[in-house]
Amino acid sequence: MFNNPRLILDSSSAPDPGRITWRSPSNIAIIKYWGKYGVQLPKNPSFSFTLAASCTDTMVEYEFKEGLPDGQIDLEFFFHQAENEAFRAKVLEFLNSILPVYPFLKQLKLTVRTGNSFPHSAGIASSASGMSALALCLCSLEDALFGTLKDQEEFDKKASFLARLGSGSACRSIFPYAAVWGETTHVKGSHNEYAVPAESYLHDVFKDFHDDILIVSREEKSVSSRAGHALMDGNPYAEPRYAQARTRLGTLMGALRTGDLETFGKITEDEALTLHALMMCSNPSYTLMRPDTLSIIEKVRQYRADTGNQVYFTLDAGPNVHLLYPGEIVHEVRAFIDEQLVEHCEDGYVQQDWVGEGPEEI
Ligand code: DP6
Repeated sequence: MFNNPRLILDSSSAPDPGRITWRSPSNIAIIKYWGKYGVQLPKNPSFSFTLAASCTDTMVEYEFKEGLPDGQIDLEFFFHQAENEAFRAKVLEFLNSILPVYPFLKQLKLTVRTGNSFPHSAGIASSASGMSALALCLCSLEDALFGTLKDQEEFDKKASFLARLGSGSACRSIFPYAAVWGETTHVKGSHNEYAVPAESYLHDVFKDFHDDILIVSREEKSVSSRAGHALMDGNPYAEPRYAQARTRLGTLMGALRTGDLETFGKITEDEALTLHALMMCSNPSYTLMRPDTLSIIEKVRQYRADTGNQVYFTLDAGPNVHLLYPGEIVHEVRAFIDEQLVEHCEDGYVQQDWVGEGPEEI
């Protein structure tokens, strides 16, 4: 949709070397994206909150290369100041895949320096923050070299489109507060190829919302997202699941608008457990919850019954638990975490996060 063979540099007016840096956050899905088709297209629409503290900073340095492009992208890659071959290969694969959109990438010498605001071993996925930060740098690069992105909306749409090609969930990190990715009649302008901002659908209570991430295990995930999505292809519950996600998204949008925390919480928890149920009944099957994950879930339910405080859990494709709750009860909830939940976290590690204002150029 954004392919453009004209984005080629003219060696007679070669650009000066330069650098661009973006900080981009992770996001937490409430309606989960799980199952894809074609080139990174989602089988169902998803909704997420954009986080604030779990971020990736990415700097792209560029320099025009004299002579003809030799068919390879010239890339050096540093993660936390050290060369990292595994990440470099991933980024290179991504850059190669977007050459029809940005053919000029072969005319540059590129150095990418990236780092996360959270420890790499914290068990927090960095593909959403990492791929969105990179996509934003590339759109700024287009702006600097060609000035072809006409306004903020066009810039964000293209950044989201590119981020999606790097990692599906990354396309939702571009927008402040919240985003929807995937066609749905409930959100105007929603699209399978990029996410759209969802801030205007939020009651104020959701703009001051916390997500404390309880790190049950720092281990790398035992199933990659790519393999996980592929498992949906042979899953007998796949089609009803996609239909369920579409219906739930409609109900969720209503609850977000009115500030109905109970409906929001019910859908949030149902979605987390559905995701894990789908993995458990895939072939091969994965049980990514740990005993501590279940202990936390039980304690959260009990705490809610005892206090009436509206604290809800969600899970990604791993054992860590995200606790979601409104800012006005932060002190009570933090005390509950310290007293009852920290004991289930590896080395007592909790990453405190909250709904944030989206990426920034730095
Ligand atoms: C469970 O976006 O990591 O976090 O597109 O293959 O990179 P790829 O997958 P990825 O999948 C995320 C799955 C999820 C749910 C979600 O964020 O919607």
